[in-house]
Amino acid sequence: MTPTHTVHTIPTPAARTYASVNLAHKLSLLHEHWSQRVVAEMNDYQFKIAKLQGDFVWHSHADTDECFLVVAGELRIDFRDGAVTLRTGEMFVVPKGVEHKPFASGETHVLLVEPRGVVNTGDAESDRTRANDVWI
Ligand code: NI
Repeated sequence: MTPTHTVHTIPTPAARTYASVNLAHKLSLLHEHWSQRVVAEMNDYQFKIAKLQGDFVWHSHADTDECFLVVAGELRIDFRDGAVTLRTGEMFVVPKGVEHKPFASGETHVLLVEPRGVVNTGDAESDRTRANDVWI
């Protein structure tokens, strides 16, 4: 008769490592402006890096807020009724459904936090649209 017993193990996904995500290193691998890359996920949310320079397009995200954290540089986010300027170390959450247009006079490095599947140009049809689930 085969004895039954319970084995208590902690599931360890093969991909799990305890390496930190170094944003400066990840950013050094990215050479295209306005093209976001995923560096981590938390539940259904993604952390994405991007290098911004110049003007983007007006757009909004009907289903989600969008968080911008400036890692280096300076980013202005224009709204139809105002603007916010983010310097290194500052962040801002754009409420869902609110039209916005990021602008950076010099190259600016940002970390975006938003749900998986969010497209960079939101509802706007644009040649600036980029794939939204590319890891780096
Ligand atoms: Ni947006």
